[in-house]
Amino acid sequence: MKSLLLPIVLLTAISFTASAPVYWGQIGHRTIGHIADGMLSRKATKHVKRVLGTETLAEVSTWMDEIRSDNSYRYANTWHYCTIPDGMTYETAPTQEGGDVIWAIEKIIKELKAGGLSAEDEAKNLKFLVHLVGDIHQPLHVGNGEDRGGNDVKVQWFGTNTNLHSVWDSRMIDGKQFSYTEFANWVNHASKSQIKAWQSATVRDWAMESMSFRDQVYAVPENGRLSYRYSYDNFDLVKQRVLQAGVRLAGVINDIYK
Ligand code: ADE
Ligand code: ZN
Ligand code: ZN
Repeated sequence: MKSLLLPIVLLTAISFTASAPVYWGQIGHRTIGHIADGMLSRKATKHVKRVLGTETLAEVSTWMDEIRSDNSYRYANTWHYCTIPDGMTYETAPTQEGGDVIWAIEKIIKELKAGGLSAEDEAKNLKFLVHLVGDIHQPLHVGNGEDRGGNDVKVQWFGTNTNLHSVWDSRMIDGKQFSYTEFANWVNHASKSQIKAWQSATVRDWAMESMSFRDQVYAVPENGRLSYRYSYDNFDLVKQRVLQAGVRLAGVINDIYK
């Protein structure tokens, strides 16, 4: 029995360190893609089909996390987030070498609008866009520059060791045990005036909004133990950010293929 204990302890420790995704989880990203899929204009729908073939926006939304395992995409590692310290704006914050999420979204939109890309580059850009419009709406993807977007803030989620970033990427959402279509149905109730207002904001506005929720996001009890209460206090914001991301993604794609 004793001889089994060490391997078990080691494997448990490894499984904790290896399961630390740094992105809206799959459900969050797919929900955002699915909401956008349902709001595309007829023309944009045609173009998306041309570019992605049989795959939907929901299905390609997590591709940018899958390519983290591929060294040839290492250049995009910093594109998932940006850093804006308290009291600063994107313009006054230090520049991220290699590009950040705002820079990447603005660049990708410009390239897609300009056209003339190879089929492969257009598909790549569209998949990047679906993912990154999601990421920028996750409040902790606009980091304060002190804790890698909450990745260094150790907490417990229903007794399991994790970090604040992971709670926001996936643990609150996964805890609801919805599929992405179920989650989309739950949140997909934007009014016409909300859609209009949300789609008229700029990429930099989206980031400043994420930053504006910082106090709420960091309101963690001293002992770091998070469970029902934290989810109860924050899930409306999760739903709002996922919905805004989906609505804005559709707006951007409709505008590119207009
Ligand atoms: N690394 C550094 N800052 C980060 C952030 N805000 N989100 C994810 N990864 C990061
Ligand atoms: Zn990401
Ligand atoms: Zn993340």
